[in-house]
This record gives sequence, structure tokens and C-alpha cells, in this order.
Amino acid sequence: MIHLQMEALSLIYARSINYCIGAGGRVPWELPDEYALFERTTRNHAIIMGRASWEDHRTTLPDRLNIVVTSRPAAAFSKGIRVARSLPEALSLARSSNLAPFVIGGTRLLAEAMPLTTRVFETIVDVEVEGDTYVDAFDFTGWHASVVDQRGIDANNRYAWTTRRYQKPMPKET
Ligand SMILES: NC(=O)c1ccc[n+]([C@@H]2O[C@H](COP(=O)([O-])OP(=O)(O)OC[C@H]3O[C@@H](n4cnc5c(N)ncnc54)[C@H](OP(=O)(O)O)[C@@H]3O)[C@@H](O)[C@H]2O)c1
Repeated sequence: MIHLQMEALSLIYARSINYCIGAGGRVPWELPDEYALFERTTRNHAIIMGRASWEDHRTTLPDRLNIVVTSRPAAAFSKGIRVARSLPEALSLARSSNLAPFVIGGTRLLAEAMPLTTRVFETIVDVEVEGDTYVDAFDFTGWHASVVDQRGIDANNRYAWTTRRYQKPMPKET
């Protein structure tokens, strides 16, 4: 069971140079091209988010299963949101829908999911932010890294950013 989760679970987030992911309940930047990459990458998957991350947008993203992890009753959420009480319950909901899961934040879910994942999409936004929500500095030593996309500052991108995909090597059979 755990092996299945390890193969299928992915993480995706965008952080500043100093590991900030949120400020005042919002993502601290507006980067439409980076958001489009997030949108494309997570389409046709199950996205798993904490309740505060859902409150940032309060919408259901189309073409994917939207799962919110919370202790609050399901009635507190809009139609189309599936509610789970824990990360394992969210993973089980995704599995029963035959959709590979993406954990998309915030801090606690990313930290809890990290030991279970083999694939992480990390965007580094080239700015220092004083926010209130930070992601752990995950150690990708030994993981295979590739650049998925990057932008310099231009009319569409207030800050430069780079998205890398990290793939964890599978343990060798002994
Ligand atoms: N830059 C990015 O990539 C990115 C991504 C996502 C979010 N954000 C930002 O990050 C901020 C929100 O993140 P956050 O870390 O403060 O909060 P969060 O994880 O989104 O939400 C926290 C709440 O989710 C529930 N929860 C989270 N982890 C849980 C777990 N393992 N088991 C059970 N319940 C769990 C609890 O809900 P209840 O209190 O309802 O029980 C908890 O109070 C916002 O500013 C948002 O815009 C940024």
C-alpha cells in the first residue's frame, strides 16, 4: 500500500529565495505564466490542499479532483470540493478516483507528504519576501533535477522564476 503511494504522489509549490510561500493568506506574488504551469501540470490529477490554501481562492479548479484537508464539516466548502480529515484519507480519496495525487500546500501537508513522494515540482521565485508561511528547505541531494521552465523579468513576470522537477531515484534491488 505505502509503495503504491510512493510511486504516485507528487508535490508542487512555489517559494521565494527565503522559502516563503504565503503572506496574509495569499500567495505573495502574481506570476501568470508560473500559475499556467501549475495549472497544466496538475490537470487531470487529484490536488490535495490544506484548508487555508483553499481559502486563498475558494474556487474549485476545473479538470481535477479538489480535495481539502480540514477538521471542518464538508458543508463549509463549496460544491465540488471533497473533504478529507488527514493526508492518508486524501490519498485514499484520490486512489479511489483513479487520479494521481498532487499535494499543493501549505506547510504541514508538504512536510508530511515529502517522505512519501518521488516527484517534486519546485518553483523558486527570485525575490526575498517577509511573509507568514514558509516551506521547509527540503534536501534534494541525490535526486535527479531538471529545469521545466524559467522566466526573466518582463512585462508578464514581475520577478524572475525557475521551476525544477526533482525525481527521486528508485532504490536498487538487492
Ligand atoms: N506558494 C505556493 O506554492 C503556495 C501553495 C499553497 C498555499 N500557499 C499559501 O500558503 C498559505 C496557506 O498555507 P498554510 O500552511 O498556512 O495552511 P494550509 O496547510 O493550507 O491550511 C492549514 C489547515 O489545513 C488543515 N490541515 C493542514 N495540514 C493538515 C494535516 N496534515 N492533517 C489535517 N489537517 C491539516 C487544517 O485545517 P482545519 O484548521 O480546518 O482543521 C489546518 O488548520 C496561504 O497564504 C496560501 O496562499 C502558497
